[in-house]
Amino acid sequence: MELPDVRRIFGVKHPDGAELVVHGGHIHAASVNVPGDKSISHRALLFGLLAQGTSRIQGLSRADDVNATRAAVASLGAKLDESEYELSITGTGGSLTEPDHVINVGNSGTLLRLISGLLAPRVGVTVFLTGDASIVRRPMARVVEPLTAMGAYILGRQENRFAPLVVQGRELTGITYSMSTPSAQVKSAIILAGLAADGETAIIESTPTRAHTEEMAPLFGARLQVEDDGASRVVHVERSDLSACDFVVPGDPSAAAFFVVLGLIGESPVTVDNVYLGAERDGFVKVLRAMGGRIEVSRLPSGAHSITARPSELTGTVVGPEGVPGLIDEVPILAVAAAKARGATTFLGVEELRHKESDRIATTMEMLAAFGVESAEVESGFRVWGGVPVDLARHMQRSVDSHMDHRIAMSAAILGAVSKGETRIVGADSVPTSFPGFSAQLARCGVEVRA
Ligand code: S3P
Repeated sequence: MELPDVRRIFGVKHPDGAELVVHGGHIHAASVNVPGDKSISHRALLFGLLAQGTSRIQGLSRADDVNATRAAVASLGAKLDESEYELSITGTGGSLTEPDHVINVGNSGTLLRLISGLLAPRVGVTVFLTGDASIVRRPMARVVEPLTAMGAYILGRQENRFAPLVVQGRELTGITYSMSTPSAQVKSAIILAGLAADGETAIIESTPTRAHTEEMAPLFGARLQVEDDGASRVVHVERSDLSACDFVVPGDPSAAAFFVVLGLIGESPVTVDNVYLGAERDGFVKVLRAMGGRIEVSRLPSGAHSITARPSELTGTVVGPEGVPGLIDEVPILAVAAAKARGATTFLGVEELRHKESDRIATTMEMLAAFGVESAEVESGFRVWGGVPVDLARHMQRSVDSHMDHRIAMSAAILGAVSKGETRIVGADSVPTSFPGFSAQLARCGVEVRA
């Protein structure tokens, strides 16, 4: 089996800041491929670890974040075997092995939060968790608090609010928990803990977030039910023995969004095949259509979707605050669409972006500024003034610092591809965090791109 690149997992992937240089120019019609969905890939591996028997997973993402999860489940006792087409994971039936070493989640907040919930009820197992420079700054109290209320023993820096963390397995008892911040990661951590807790665990969401955990858990035999009365969604979980399941991971909509926007703001249509477009992941399509984007979506026999985006005259809009969890990862690339739209686009209720891989309100605005696009902070978000030509002489050469945030680096590459001159992206080796092979897909659209 191919081992994950340890340099990346240990957060030393940018000692001298690898660069990507994109030349603006003609985009030709293209069909591009995206990796398997990152959120679903993490969960497939974590459920595979807990299950009894061998699960076969097709389409698993090879992104760095998911590679960190592969390494984590292997160190907890899962046996992995990979062929060209699928990964087989033989699980532990819930009896985890205590790893000899710290588990390093790299850049992955999803892994750190979900695995904290998965480990909390594993009595006899103590695990140390850490990650890269960004991960140790991301808020962890949001998972530590509900898990502690269930009886978990978790310690972390600064009064258990930041990684590194240590999780020592304890007997847990189910709780009823109302989500204060909408977060699929927090919900999923509590579900994973609830699968090995006494009694029922109920999680109440007033703002729905991506539902991959509750959709996938029953496929692995979990006793889990979802009640939705329109006003709130309640996930009920009971202690469950999980069993292996064969699973196909569809393509990642968050990766597809970069090429959908390229199709809209370039001169030629772009098609992305095999994309997951379930609820809470399709918000970017709705916003881009509201901006005037010509986007065709068709459902494939597999249940995934094919998306074609055609060059469009976009106009500014207001995004959020409703529905923000359904497009939170797509805000930087939606800001790129806003930069090419007529008028202003305002993003509201997006404060959570401050806690992502970078402070994405600040880094998105800085990225736009490198192209001469104006933006300003507003209460709970920011506003972008679009339609400004970015081919002024002073902007013929620009440099964008991704701040080691993959979504900022890729958003800059897309805006660079439709802007005159040369865009130099510093910290572009963050891109494989979610999208290994991104440059090759960009090149398929005719973009001149050099690493
Ligand atoms: C994710 C949930 C979201 C999202 C992240 C992936 C998941 O984070 O931004 O990229 O897989 O559950 P939050 O739960 O912090 O909103």
